[in-house]
Amino acid sequence: MDTRPIGVFDSGLGGLTAVSEIMRLLPGEEIVYFGDTARVPYGTRSKDTIMRYVREDIDFLKTFNIKAVIMACGTASSVSLPQIGEEYDIPIIGVVKPASLAATSATRNGKIGIIGTPATIKSRSYEREILTLSPRAELHTAACPLFVPLVENGRTDPDDVVLFTMVEEYLTPIKNAGVDTLIMGCTHYPIIERAIAAFLGDSVTLINPGLEAAKYLTADGGIERGSGDGSYRFFVSDDRDGFLENASKFLGGKLCGTVMLKEMEK
Ligand code: DGL
Repeated sequence: MDTRPIGVFDSGLGGLTAVSEIMRLLPGEEIVYFGDTARVPYGTRSKDTIMRYVREDIDFLKTFNIKAVIMACGTASSVSLPQIGEEYDIPIIGVVKPASLAATSATRNGKIGIIGTPATIKSRSYEREILTLSPRAELHTAACPLFVPLVENGRTDPDDVVLFTMVEEYLTPIKNAGVDTLIMGCTHYPIIERAIAAFLGDSVTLINPGLEAAKYLTADGGIERGSGDGSYRFFVSDDRDGFLENASKFLGGKLCGTVMLKEMEK
């Protein structure tokens, strides 16, 4: 038994979609979450900058004597793993591998769509992972740079005309390609899952990377279970009030735990 907390981070609020699944699947685990709200988004930044942010985020979480890190950010996972994983002495689990495993087992026609931030799509991380698992898969990708700002600004209603316009623009080529599975390759995207599902229709399976990372942690993550009380601490690098206002939407329920500020160098 290992009662140390699990550290989880994201560039902002999106990683809470993974936290809610870890809370559900592993209720006894203590969680320390860091949302880098002062420096969001990561997905439009250079590799060097993302690597620096990721190291700083992990170093901060490590001050809580954590037993593992969940990189609940498609961008951070795509750009910094596996390199970052080799720099630390605890397991670091990203979202790319778990989501790719889920997509390859979900697809029936072998056509998989991948959407993510510009940095995630440029890294080709999901493509590499999927083609290793399933070399004959046909992949269709799209960078969706405006989804994160829409989510962070609360434009998440499927009837929102701006959201619908962007979903249509980004996803039309993927829909026309006939994919039967879509990886929502950024942890912000499950918040607009209803809008994406409404556009693509019931025949397309949507893969939620946070949920898949939580399942992976439960099954294969190589961590010893805790028997903690499931207590939760949340840190943000800016706008604690905004976090308090919006976190419950990402968590799919009430925010339970303390929320504190941790400033980071820009
Ligand atoms: N949740 C992050 C991701 O999965 C948000 C993207 C960003 O910071 O640009 O990629």
